Amino acid sequence: MSQPIRIAVIGSGYVGLVAAVCFAEIGHEVICVDNDPRKVDALQAGDTLIHEEFLPQLLARYRNGRIQFTTDLGAATRACDAIFIAVGTPQSETGDADLSYVEAVACEIARSLNTYKVIVEKSTVPVYTNEWIRRAIERNGVARELFDVVSNPEFLREGTAVSDFLHPDRIVVGADQEAAANLLAAIYAPLTTGAYYQRADAIPGGCSVAAPPPLLHTSTKSAEIIKHASNAFLAMKISFINAVSNLCEATDANVEQVARGMGLDARIGPRFLRPGIGYGGSCFPKDVAAFRSVAEQLGLNFNLLAEVESINAQQKKRFLSKVRSALWTLRGKRLAVLGLAFKGETDDIRDSPAVELVQMFLAEGCSVTAYDPAAIKRTQQHLPASDQLRYAEDAYAAAEDADALIVLTDWAEFATLDLTRLNNALRYPIVIDGRNLYDPAKMAEHGFTYLSIGRPAAYPARSSVTA
Ligand code: UGA
Repeated sequence: MSQPIRIAVIGSGYVGLVAAVCFAEIGHEVICVDNDPRKVDALQAGDTLIHEEFLPQLLARYRNGRIQFTTDLGAATRACDAIFIAVGTPQSETGDADLSYVEAVACEIARSLNTYKVIVEKSTVPVYTNEWIRRAIERNGVARELFDVVSNPEFLREGTAVSDFLHPDRIVVGADQEAAANLLAAIYAPLTTGAYYQRADAIPGGCSVAAPPPLLHTSTKSAEIIKHASNAFLAMKISFINAVSNLCEATDANVEQVARGMGLDARIGPRFLRPGIGYGGSCFPKDVAAFRSVAEQLGLNFNLLAEVESINAQQKKRFLSKVRSALWTLRGKRLAVLGLAFKGETDDIRDSPAVELVQMFLAEGCSVTAYDPAAIKRTQQHLPASDQLRYAEDAYAAAEDADALIVLTDWAEFATLDLTRLNNALRYPIVIDGRNLYDPAKMAEHGFTYLSIGRPAAYPARSSVTA
């Protein structure tokens, strides 16, 4: 193993906490800072606060050793060589990223800079943020030789965040000074040299000793743009296939066959071509808007991104119409909803298209019984249970006596439900699937009327009303 480096990570949200724990996992000494003392106490006690595979094990492995949690940003800055800023960059009213947390942290770091430090932006930020951080620190009276600012964007996905961090497709380091680039290269050396993957207790994933991840060294501005451009491109791929799925519906073609035929072209690739009810989450909606806003501020026309957003918004409305057309009228209908999280295997409901659709169903006068394997608690804080909205303990309980079953999140658990039991629970065997989790022919065999996205509707096979 290479030399441990002392790293401070500011912010213990998704990116910050996963990065902090993973830096400890690859051998570094980490101090994770958050200004919320309750969070710090919970983390110190071993509660990960988020639903993420491998995180509890890694936290348990290091929390009384290589990783410490504190609210004291100044002390963490003084004690470390690299300071990663991983605080939130929420969307402001105008669509651009609100950088006030980043600025506040930069000023606080400035007050504690004593020896040379590398300050790393890990939060998703627009191009030029690096320069603003540098200026903010200089304005607080810190000599230029005492620090460098680099950009090291993170590409992890919720649900697979730990393995994405430890087995990345690439590590991007935007550094304009050699000393800073060298420190970042040393931090990631256990991954880029393959040393980490030799360990018997390494978290499993796609990288190996023979195929370690590449480190791409770029300018700071390029790195900032790489992050926004990557998320915007992935969102565009999703909107593209959603638009194609509408075309498939209009022509009775099958979007799955189309996506497969497209994805086999190595230049296109098969991933992120799953049609659905639109993308959501804490990243794509915010980052597409922020990237568009950056282009606007630079006087550039990037209307393609506005179209990506518009298709995404339409997709939810189209799904509502699909439900309406299957049930004739919506007022007074009882809907069983499977899924509240913005995607499967996470409890995150930020910008969740599933939650938005539940709200649309309620506004149409439906009553909803919803089930999600992990996101009910969070949803209840936002949408409390009422006469019109109930939460169920499992999928079958949600389906009980409902006029139709609506699938809104792609949880693996939903794909393997007992279809006969589901059919028996429902008042009418109608399934409207916003995530294409089931095989239409199989649904027909099990006696369902089955509508999905971009695929021909399936109707109960004549002789197969399920027992
Ligand atoms: C996304 C990116 O995938 C990460 O690379 C990035 O680091 C992260 O944002 C971020 O900027 O922090 P995440 O938001 O966790 O990760 O989730 P994704 O798996 O990308 O899914 C985003 C949304 O797109 C979900 O609502 C998902 O259901 C939807 N989606 C995804 C589709 O509708 N179709 C697809 O084919 C793929």
